[in-house]
Amino acid sequence: MNVLVIGSGGREHALCWALSRSQSVENLYCAPGNGGISDMAACVPLDVSHSDTVLDFCQSHNIGFVVVGPEAPLVDGLVDDLSRAGLPAFGPRKGAAALEGSKGFMKDLCREYNIPTAAYERFSDATAAKEYLATQNMPIVIKADGLAAGKGVIIAQNLEEANATVDDILGGMFGGAGAEIVIEEFLTGEEASFFVLTDGINILPLATAQDHKAVGDGDTGPNTGGMGAYSPAPVMTDAMIERSIEEIIKPTVAAMQDRGCPYTGVLYAGLMITDQGPKLIEYNVRFGDPECQVLMARLDSDILPALQATADGTLSDVSLKWKNDAAMVVVLAANGYPGSYEKNTEIKGLDDANAMEDVIVLHAGTKKENDRYYATGGRVLGVTTFGETVTKAQKKAYDAIAKIDWPEGFCRKDIGWRAIEREK
Ligand code: AMP
Ligand code: GLY
Repeated sequence: MNVLVIGSGGREHALCWALSRSQSVENLYCAPGNGGISDMAACVPLDVSHSDTVLDFCQSHNIGFVVVGPEAPLVDGLVDDLSRAGLPAFGPRKGAAALEGSKGFMKDLCREYNIPTAAYERFSDATAAKEYLATQNMPIVIKADGLAAGKGVIIAQNLEEANATVDDILGGMFGGAGAEIVIEEFLTGEEASFFVLTDGINILPLATAQDHKAVGDGDTGPNTGGMGAYSPAPVMTDAMIERSIEEIIKPTVAAMQDRGCPYTGVLYAGLMITDQGPKLIEYNVRFGDPECQVLMARLDSDILPALQATADGTLSDVSLKWKNDAAMVVVLAANGYPGSYEKNTEIKGLDDANAMEDVIVLHAGTKKENDRYYATGGRVLGVTTFGETVTKAQKKAYDAIAKIDWPEGFCRKDIGWRAIEREK
């Protein structure tokens, strides 16, 4: 079967890498893809925000299955359009993608179905928001309702900052995504990501991971899309996984069914493990980036049948094998990220890093020209490794990074620190 992956990041490189090992994939395409993806799939420069363009390509290239990586095309309804044209695709339809596309939608669902999450209220009027803030404890969390490229969450330390944030967001700092806000209680605990596949009824747990969102060592500095991750996350004990499924995932899947917008795809729960147990911080309607890289590294089964079964409602027939090893990904980003950074700088030494045992360098923002690789994004590479322990995986990751010659890039030096503290 010919398969098309939509997206251009490290997540999509990881998906293409997994799909390229599938028994049943004949020709693999990725739109638009990146320099690393072009080594394993044919990259096609489609404007994926236009469903017609994607459909035309699928028809002319006999595509049998589409895997949508990022949230934006899901929230815009790409899977709805493909399905209407009879093309099976992995990912939720527009109505279900609202779990990520509208934080207010997600919070109201939690309230209605008793799913543990931070206490909250929704506002579109600044005066009402400030009256509410005056009654709340600080710090407090203020979120733009819509998609804001991972930047729409602000933690205000005091009332003055909180009031200013309300004015900024409702005043258009995130454009239309901030026409409405959610103000919610600040949760304390350890964060973890939990991924499941669901076909709308059946649930297949995948794995747990822990992301590192802050740009600097010791979780300092501004938030990014994620500077590194590892899987499994030790804070997600079997008991905590069980509780997360029973208290959060199952009621959500049932609620979406109940509301007439069944959720099909990968459901990524961002959790806070609090003293009272797991609480939902947010849902994402796609694989995490860079968490997908460590999930695909640990997956020991053909991924295509699982993705197809998710789309066609036969997930109860699927089981997946996972490596016992820990996997880690360390992100290399362009100097200056998440602020402004230089583009088109050359990256050398990738072959030496890739040649190391248990190492694969997944690309997030690169292009390939005349057999040379150039950085084109903020997050540029994800050096992905395995090890019996997170400590061992981390050593391999930093040994591989030492072989990469790219003075215009940097990485965090402490990815995995929470797990490594536990392993000591
Ligand atoms: P999100 O974009 O919703 O994942 O939020 C980004 C980050 O903000 C999360 O990974 C958390 O670190 C933090 N965050 C979001 N909501 C809360 C909350 N209610 N309490 C504490 N931290 C939060
Ligand atoms: N790494 C966080 C995310 O994919 O949302």
